[in-house]
Amino acid sequence: MKLLSDLRSEHVLIERLVGSLQTFAAARASGAVDPAAGAAYVAFFRLYAGRYHHAREEGVLFTALVREAEVPGDRGPLAALAADHAALEVLLAAMEPALTGSEPGAAPGDLVLCARQHGAMLLHHIDAENDVLFVESEARLAQASVAELPTREPDAEEAAARDAGAALVDRYPPSDIPGLWRGAGCVACPAYGERCGGIEREWWSELDWQDFHDRAH
Ligand SMILES: [Fe+2]
Ligand SMILES: [Fe+2]
Repeated sequence: MKLLSDLRSEHVLIERLVGSLQTFAAARASGAVDPAAGAAYVAFFRLYAGRYHHAREEGVLFTALVREAEVPGDRGPLAALAADHAALEVLLAAMEPALTGSEPGAAPGDLVLCARQHGAMLLHHIDAENDVLFVESEARLAQASVAELPTREPDAEEAAARDAGAALVDRYPPSDIPGLWRGAGCVACPAYGERCGGIEREWWSELDWQDFHDRAH
């Protein structure tokens, strides 16, 4: 499905920007960088990762899963991932003054910790989508006879934010978040056991029972 392959390839750039932001935040804490670059990180995460990428996940993919594949939208993976999108926006807004130097009182030293928190959440989120949600979505939508979903190109602002973001990766090469453990499957997702019981349990439906009984006989 083109939408899912588009979303996966967008994750590659978003992940690079997470790493690049770690490098920028460390440099910013020492007071040595251009605040305009900080504004470009904000624009990238707000317009390209948020308004373009997250909005298509929620507005197209999640909506189709609820409507066509009858998976729950108010609990389980979709609710947990939508809550991540909202939490990421809040974290970005909290980092903005230190990133851009727009408030003289904002402590650049805190930026390193904020960037790690934002980055760790976003990388776990991407792993949960790539390894669990998108895989299961394709199967569920195929069962519901949905072969394709609409996607779109970024608009001019979103494309400009993407291109400026790609240039930041060259200027501030990505670095890892110290101590971040990443893994595949629901067990690696911070929401598992806290806000979500895992996709198999949360998405088990009458249809699955029927299929289970059919296979058993
Ligand atoms: Fe997402
Ligand atoms: Fe995503």
